[in-house]
Amino acid sequence: MGIGKLAFFLLCAFLCQLVFSSSLPHLCPNDQALALLQFKNTFTINLDASYSGYYPKTAKWNKSTDCCSWDGVKCDEMTGQVIQLDLSRSQLRGEFHSNSSLFKLSNLKRLDLSENDFSGSLISPKFGELSNLTHLDLSYSTFTGIIPAEISRLSKLHVLSIESDPYELRFKPHNFELLLKNLTRLRVLHLSSVNISSTIPLKFSSYLTNLGLSDTQIYGILPKGVFHLSNLESLDLSDNPQLTVRFPTTKWNSSASLTKLYLSGVNATGTIPESFGHLTSLHRLRIASCNLSGSIPKSLWNLTNIEVLDLGYNHLEGPISDFFRFGKIRSLSLRNNNFNGQLEFLSFNRWTQLGLLDCSVNSVTGPIPSNVSGMQNLYSLFLSSNLLNGTIPSWIFSLHSIGILDLSDNHLSGNIQEFYSESLYRVSLKQNQLQGPIPKSLLDLQGLQFLLLSRNNLSGQIASTICNLTKLLVLDLGSNNLEGTIPLCLGEMSGLWILDLSNNSLNRTINTTFSRGNQLIVIKFDGNKLEGKVPQSLINCTYLEVVDLGNNELSDTFPKWLGALPYLQILILRSNKFYGPIKDSRTDNLFAQIRVIDLSSNGFSGDLPARRFENFEAMKMIDESSGIREYVGNIYSYYYTNSLTVTTKGLDLELPRVLTTDMLIDLSRNRFEGHIPSIIGDLIGLRTLNLSDNRLEGIIPASLHQLSVLESLDLSSNKISGEIPQQLASLKSLEVLNLSHNHLVGCIPKGKQFDTFENSSYQGNDGLRGLPLSKDCGGNEGVPQATTPFGKDQEEEEGYSTMISWQAVLMGYGCGFVIGLSIIYIMLSTQYPTWFSRMDIKLEHKILMRMKRHKKRH
Ligand SMILES: *[C@@H]1O[C@H](CO)[C@@H](O)[C@H](O)[C@H]1NC(C)=O
Ligand SMILES: *[C@@H]1O[C@H](CO)[C@@H](O)[C@H](O)[C@H]1NC(C)=O
Ligand SMILES: *[C@@H]1O[C@H](CO)[C@@H](O)[C@H](O)[C@H]1NC(C)=O
Ligand SMILES: *[C@@H]1O[C@H](CO)[C@@H](O)[C@H](O)[C@H]1NC(C)=O
Ligand SMILES: *[C@@H]1O[C@H](CO)[C@@H](O)[C@H](O)[C@H]1NC(C)=O
Ligand SMILES: *[C@@H]1O[C@H](CO)[C@@H](O)[C@H](O)[C@H]1NC(C)=O
Ligand SMILES: *[C@@H]1O[C@H](CO)[C@@H](O)[C@H](O)[C@H]1NC(C)=O
Ligand SMILES: *[C@@H]1O[C@H](CO)[C@@H](O)[C@H](O)[C@H]1NC(C)=O
Ligand SMILES: *[C@@H]1O[C@H](CO)[C@@H](O)[C@H](O)[C@H]1NC(C)=O
Ligand SMILES: *[C@@H]1O[C@H](CO)[C@@H](O)[C@H](O)[C@H]1NC(C)=O
Ligand SMILES: *[C@@H]1O[C@H](CO)[C@@H](O)[C@H](O)[C@H]1NC(C)=O
Repeated sequence: MGIGKLAFFLLCAFLCQLVFSSSLPHLCPNDQALALLQFKNTFTINLDASYSGYYPKTAKWNKSTDCCSWDGVKCDEMTGQVIQLDLSRSQLRGEFHSNSSLFKLSNLKRLDLSENDFSGSLISPKFGELSNLTHLDLSYSTFTGIIPAEISRLSKLHVLSIESDPYELRFKPHNFELLLKNLTRLRVLHLSSVNISSTIPLKFSSYLTNLGLSDTQIYGILPKGVFHLSNLESLDLSDNPQLTVRFPTTKWNSSASLTKLYLSGVNATGTIPESFGHLTSLHRLRIASCNLSGSIPKSLWNLTNIEVLDLGYNHLEGPISDFFRFGKIRSLSLRNNNFNGQLEFLSFNRWTQLGLLDCSVNSVTGPIPSNVSGMQNLYSLFLSSNLLNGTIPSWIFSLHSIGILDLSDNHLSGNIQEFYSESLYRVSLKQNQLQGPIPKSLLDLQGLQFLLLSRNNLSGQIASTICNLTKLLVLDLGSNNLEGTIPLCLGEMSGLWILDLSNNSLNRTINTTFSRGNQLIVIKFDGNKLEGKVPQSLINCTYLEVVDLGNNELSDTFPKWLGALPYLQILILRSNKFYGPIKDSRTDNLFAQIRVIDLSSNGFSGDLPARRFENFEAMKMIDESSGIREYVGNIYSYYYTNSLTVTTKGLDLELPRVLTTDMLIDLSRNRFEGHIPSIIGDLIGLRTLNLSDNRLEGIIPASLHQLSVLESLDLSSNKISGEIPQQLASLKSLEVLNLSHNHLVGCIPKGKQFDTFENSSYQGNDGLRGLPLSKDCGGNEGVPQATTPFGKDQEEEEGYSTMISWQAVLMGYGCGFVIGLSIIYIMLSTQYPTWFSRMDIKLEHKILMRMKRHKKRH
């Protein structure tokens, strides 16, 4: 080609470009501009519809400009047809119907609608008509229901992403298989948290570079072929406990390309095979919760590119110092294993990129080394539940970018120094031997959300500047030597969920006024020297589940008004100076959710409040059906667990967490008199009933035989008379029975649990006979007849009970907030706590924001 020709050609190309790009006013066909505008107008712009930091791309779309220049729109340079539409994170909210004008854009090749809020719309089968699509992203846009089979028609797809919130979306049987079979050009497939519930077919696109199927309920054996995809770069099959994964023992075909391998929470049992050493490109490896055991194979140390490594929740062992070989590590989680040794290697100062270090729940010993530097990027440091001792070195307090510091449950001693970080939002130093005052700098951390310093030897007062921490959600200062008064301003902390000041030396009256609209769920002031009355303003704490004021010197009548708190489940007033009768009340719905009520060791008097018992709706159910262990007051329990000291089975027990099924009534050591109301027999969820050391008389109501899960019954040291109802022999869960020191007579029931109780259960009565007391009971072999006469009081109550309506009032658990919390409960109470540990900070933030939003709406 001559120079002249070339020049001409270039000039022509230049001119053509000029003509096409500027002289035509509307590249975009009018019908497509209209379709786009129509689409835009179907939705509102809502800040909550996408997570923060994004902007509404459609806001500036405007008829008088070329649609090809609109934000998120791209047209074919030759034809002007709209071929790309990227409206990801555009804060769109509204329903997405099949008649959407979007489907008129039939030339679309790339379509991204991720992270909007389509309000639970179904994914229209019409997406299947956009047959030129190579990229389709509908992730996290609150689509629900079945993913239509028509998606499988998009045979040109290279990229398909339809991730959802857990199980909002699902496949019909076999449709996932069809999808993989038909989409033979797929490179990227992301379906995380879609309910797939099928096996992975043996045949799939050999072009796959990214496969993301975490938390999809896939099951069966993972086809070996997946590991041998020669272009595979990223594989995420985490959180599929029914998926059996057998790691190749030889070199994998994907070993050169694979940079990300996430297999946490699959069924992988065994050791980590040597073959992992071939994965030399690997940057990220997560194999937490895989039931892996043994030591780390030497070959793994060859993976010098590793930046993210999660081996948490396995049974792996070996010296923790070996990990220093990973010089590029940014995130290392070894949580919940058997690693041992000391942390001295940190002083090699090799880990300059380190952002997260989690060695919690291992057997690491010795001090945290003091000469550590260069951790400018450290954001999360978890060393909890090890055997660390010595003081907390000052480099930790001067970490500038740290957000989370958890050194709880070790043997650390010395003072807590002043912090130099401004980004800290979670500090847990609980359960150590730390002393001295709460450092002032902590109370200046404007972002602080969690402050847990309980179970140390901290002293001094609680400064009222603590109330400046407006973001604080959890304040746990329990079991220290703090003194002085409870700061008045605590009641104005509008965001606080947990306030635990228990077991300190706080004194004087509780003058704190809890403001309306506060979010408190747990208030624990027990084990102090508090005087005076229960603050009336607790009634402003609408969300309270737990109120523990036990072991103080409070002097008040029964705060019956607390019964109006709709979620109150635990009320502890034990060991105070409460006095007077607990007046009966006919008002409905008081204490309807109560599960634990402990009024023991006070000066209460008068009759037992039979009609109040009748309001205890939650106790009228035995709910073990779901199999999910739910806890009371463990909001965000990863950081705070609501423990409780109760007297059951004759012992003072500390329950580290309180199950919703741990139902208890303890009215012991008071001056109650009169009869035991037979209505107690309706509280069938009860596990502990303690009415000992009162002045109760009359008989033991036979209705108690209905308490089929009752484990501990203590009626000792009263003036109860008559015979032990033979029906009580049917209490199959009863482990401890104490009827001693009463005026009981007659035969001790025989059979089942009653054969296991010893003399001490019965001693000090007037005339009990039979086993195990030495006295003979007439040698009567047959099952004795019920001999308990029906007392007058019982008949009266029976009449009364038919008068009052008996329907179970299923209280307020339908609201969004509580559902949000239950998700957290479920997360934390099932066997996959790693879900949580592996959760991005970002995701955690999202959940927090959601819970807050739910709460606000509620
Ligand atoms: C559309 O954009 C033009 C140019 O930016 C502007 O002058 C006009 O006001 C806009 N119209 C609307 C309705 O936003
Ligand atoms: C689209 O369908 C929905 C529901 O079927 C209907 O409410 C809406 O009016 C329709 N919109 C148009 C533009 O036809
Ligand atoms: C797909 O694109 C081709 C050009 O690449 C075009 O001829 C065809 O009409 C498009 N298909 C549809 C359904 O629009
Ligand atoms: C599979 O793709 C072909 C076109 O490639 C299409 O005709 C067929 O309907 C698809 N099957 C399903 C189940 O979508
Ligand atoms: C886990 O894998 C083992 C074999 O490795 C198998 O026996 C077991 O049934 C699997 N468990 C589940 C839940 O699939
Ligand atoms: C790991 O590296 C060593 C040399 O450091 C080498 O001898 C060995 O073969 C490598 N192992 C694997 C599995 O690549
Ligand atoms: C820490 O514990 C080790 C034993 O594990 C002990 O030898 C050492 O003296 C302890 N150091 C301190 C400061 O308590
Ligand atoms: C913190 O609280 C004190 C009073 O307790 C107040 O004087 C001070 O201005 C507050 N500081 C900030 C930063 O809000
Ligand atoms: C309260 O505690 C403080 C500090 O321990 C003490 O000085 C004060 O005398 C106590 N006040 C009362 C009324 O017990
Ligand atoms: C609480 O208020 C009462 C009455 O105003 C006052 O006598 C008492 O000193 C206050 N207690 C505390 C701890 O501030
Ligand atoms: C409830 O809070 C408001 C302020 O929000 C306060 O004025 C009121 O006194 C409180 N109620 C009680 C019973 O203390």
